Amino acid sequence: MPEHVSQPETQYGPVPTSIGKEREALVQVEHLYFSYGHHLVLSDITFDIMDGDFLAVIGPNGSGKSTLIRLILGLLTPERGWINILGTPVTSFKHWEQVGYVPQKATRIDMLFPISVAEVVALGRIAAKTFPRWMNRTDTRLIHEALEQVGMASLSNTKIRELSGGQQQKVFIAKAIVNHPKILFLDEPTTGIDANSQENFYHLLGRLNREGITIVIVTHDIGVVTHYVNKVACLNQRLVFHGTHEEFCSSKEARALIPGHNHLIIHRH
Ligand SMILES: Nc1ncnc2c1ncn2[C@@H]1O[C@H](COP(=O)(O)OP(=O)(O)OP(=O)(O)O)[C@@H](O)[C@H]1O
Ligand SMILES: [Mg+2]
Repeated sequence: MPEHVSQPETQYGPVPTSIGKEREALVQVEHLYFSYGHHLVLSDITFDIMDGDFLAVIGPNGSGKSTLIRLILGLLTPERGWINILGTPVTSFKHWEQVGYVPQKATRIDMLFPISVAEVVALGRIAAKTFPRWMNRTDTRLIHEALEQVGMASLSNTKIRELSGGQQQKVFIAKAIVNHPKILFLDEPTTGIDANSQENFYHLLGRLNREGITIVIVTHDIGVVTHYVNKVACLNQRLVFHGTHEEFCSSKEARALIPGHNHLIIHRH
């Protein structure tokens, strides 16, 4: 039963890369339980996120996807179980500049606030700074590079509220990658974005992944995202599936979890 993941963390074992090095687990989640009050939301979740993975986290509304991401980011405290991030228990982890996060509904910042594209990305730099927190030339260069990576450098002085939803999402990705993180979490970043922009968006994530950023994306775009990812995790309070893209596409049980998506295509772009 390769796709079932309530198994020890050695499920994948060391994964050899093309240069012969073993891939390390950037995130380890072990027997994790979480409740809001008496409402059990996550039950006995065990899985690893390996260096270089592009992981899609899927599952119905209310299945615990955002909660799982928030636990991994240390924004919530587990009821039971443990989480390691970049080799350190999340409770004592300090290097949050190595972790990028685009929260669900990130674009719902106060759009009346006249903040520019470059200033949004600068917020990502400021968050990683200790005192003094003013900007220097290195910051300006990193902000420009991040905007170039997402194809938004030419709009750096434009007010964020003047951009389309897809453009705004790219700016939030630039903010999340401005510190060159090892791992990037995105929680439903394509909500409200048209199909064409979605494809471009996944292309961008695919490129960032090839450039070395491990990517974890929570999404309902399962038909599209399986073209790009190498791993799929399906949540429904429990981790009902966790495996490779190929295992997901060839597993009737896994696809049955996603109503209306029994026709997934295994070939990629
Ligand atoms: N702050 C909270 N307080 C109480 N219950 C919450 C809170 N946040 C989420 N929940 C509940 O926990 C469950 C899981 O929520 P979560 O947001 O993790 O789901 P999700 O899989 O991300 O859903 P969606 O696809 O709609 O974003 C839901 O039943 C939700 O109502
Ligand atoms: Mg959510």
